[in-house]
Amino acid sequence: MLTIALSKGRILEQTLPLLEKSGLTIAKEELNSRKLILDTNLADVQVIIIRATDVPVFVQHGAADMGIAGKDILLEHGANNLFEVLDLGIAKCKLMVAAESKDKLKQNTLKVATKYVNSAKLYFQNKGQSCEIIKLFGAMELAPKVGLAHCIVDLVDTGNTLKANGLIALECIEQISSRLVVNAASFKTKNTQIKPWVQNIERIL
Ligand code: ATP
Ligand code: PRP
Repeated sequence: MLTIALSKGRILEQTLPLLEKSGLTIAKEELNSRKLILDTNLADVQVIIIRATDVPVFVQHGAADMGIAGKDILLEHGANNLFEVLDLGIAKCKLMVAAESKDKLKQNTLKVATKYVNSAKLYFQNKGQSCEIIKLFGAMELAPKVGLAHCIVDLVDTGNTLKANGLIALECIEQISSRLVVNAASFKTKNTQIKPWVQNIERIL
């Protein structure tokens, strides 16, 4: 049995058509059910639909052989024990530093609100900028407005969320898109099953 971990939410909407084109379909009844392990049209392939942040964890430990997750999540997680085999080019956005103005970044110790703690820490460390990271789980854009932080590190696509909250995108940390990842052991032991999948999706892309 091959287990594929999919990120629910935004990525899933763009993943399902891609998987369908590659010959893997999940029935509507399965998708709409409360089941956590979903059957597919292929007897030897099952799908788990989980939170985006959990995908690398399941794949890293071999609980899923393959997974689809955003590069933002993979960077933050560290992505040990798994191979990033394909850039799927979906759910594209940028991981950026944003603030009310450029001046706000001029601090001895910069207060940064983000859910991307590791990526932000590494970015400012490489710049030689001392920082204090304030971990949030959402609504990062609020932090500079209420004096919780000088800036934020968050995903930016259209820029509408920043604009609506009086913030401007200042520095790009990373270009983000969703990636197909494979557990390192599965890559060897299930290679005959996995390789055609990867090649098939690559051909579609
Ligand atoms: P959760 O609900 O589990 O906390 P989330 O709200 O971050 O997760 P989504 O908003 O569905 O989940 O985002 C999942 C992934 O989609 C992100 O990790 C990123 O790779 C991508 N993504 C997020 N926001 C955007 C965006 N505005 N434009 C394009 N891609 C995005
Ligand atoms: C993401 C991200 C930003 C927004 C950026 O949030 O956290 O807030 O998209 O997109 P934009 O530049 O096109 O406005 P999302 O919509 O996924 O909401 P959430 O983080 O609250 O889940």
